Amino acid sequence: MEPIDLKNYFGDEIPSIFVIDNGSYSLKAGFAGETIPRFEMPNIIGKMNHKGLKSKKQKNIIGNECYSLSSFIELTETFENGKIKNWENMEKIWNHILFDELKIVTEESLGLITESPLTPKANREKVVQIIFETYNLRGFYYLITAQACLYSIKKPTAFIIEIGKSCYLTPVYDTYCLPHATQILNIGGDDLTKYLGNLIFQNQYSSFQSKISFEYQLLQKIKEEFCYVALDLNEETKNFEKNPENFEKTLEISNDKNFKIGKERFLVPEILFNPSIINRNSPGISSLILKSIERCDIDIRDDFYHNIILAGGSSLFPFLENRIEKEIRCFFPDAQVFALENRENLVWKGASMYARSQTFFDKCYTWEEYQESGPSMIHVKVF
Ligand SMILES: Nc1ncnc2c1ncn2[C@@H]1O[C@H](COP(=O)(O)OP(=O)(O)OP(=O)(O)O)[C@@H](O)[C@H]1O
Ligand SMILES: [Mg+2]
Repeated sequence: MEPIDLKNYFGDEIPSIFVIDNGSYSLKAGFAGETIPRFEMPNIIGKMNHKGLKSKKQKNIIGNECYSLSSFIELTETFENGKIKNWENMEKIWNHILFDELKIVTEESLGLITESPLTPKANREKVVQIIFETYNLRGFYYLITAQACLYSIKKPTAFIIEIGKSCYLTPVYDTYCLPHATQILNIGGDDLTKYLGNLIFQNQYSSFQSKISFEYQLLQKIKEEFCYVALDLNEETKNFEKNPENFEKTLEISNDKNFKIGKERFLVPEILFNPSIINRNSPGISSLILKSIERCDIDIRDDFYHNIILAGGSSLFPFLENRIEKEIRCFFPDAQVFALENRENLVWKGASMYARSQTFFDKCYTWEEYQESGPSMIHVKVF
């Protein structure tokens, strides 16, 4: 997918083209054609609680600022099950990104926002409505996150495993997602963090439920730095019992405070493979991959088994690709799972490349088209 020459296309009035990967944990934003996002911020918004400063009471606290003011803030949820639920919140967050961070004049800009697989049509229409009625964008297009990954790896067909705050398993064939085969694993980043809290504090993790509390952030840091996937859980447990000191890691919290973890390091990501550990009634990730591929036409299954791609922040656990590959190979010996570098930004990078391509400009839903046809026409453009 070659980037087009914008000067050739627009003459002297080249618009800015923003790209937002609207993740339910973190929003990544920047400009088309760039390889990494300019901004990444937690997709959260809060209001001062009764302990908060009076002067700031009415102000919305957005993104990272919520952490520094964590004891004075009540978070309000913007997403539910990975989909936008609170549109007022979403608009405030987008206002912040578009006007304060990217500093664009929306009337003169084009934009691309990602959506997660299996997003309901009504959600998509609502986004389009905000884009044209609140921001008066010149043109807009959507990309499903799994499709964006494909543009990033420059392949038309692959099986995309996205693990962020949620977990989506999507076969994408010839750049089209196959919704009838897409699977959702109801486990993601917060479940992993909470389970770590549970293991360390013997089921007393309720105090860690506020995601902006210091304790929760600490658990998250421990998870991200030290946890990894065991290739074989029984072997790993035996090895741990023989030599626990080989597994122990210490996190320095302050000059006089340390934090140690041992077998939790490999027990935490196990919930991806066996959700019943945390009482979730669902097959594990490898079984869901097999189930998804089996729902695809028999002629194209090989293409998927040979191109299983990891993406998203929670796919960064070391050895995750090896364990999935091992389990899938019991059924399909040639299966290959790829854990590419910078996979936490695979979606954003692909969306950014796409938004500089001829296809983007051909498919872009323009302000004029919106005035004529309204929000529902977007479904004719995106499929
Ligand atoms: N090195 C790491 N190891 C394990 N988990 C990590 C690591 N780095 C980040 N994470 C986790 O990744 C999660 C966020 O991932 P990501 O930013 O891809 O989510 P998102 O795109 O906002 O969510 P979604 O796409 O599901 O709506 C957090 O739970 C975070 O703790
Ligand atoms: Mg994501």
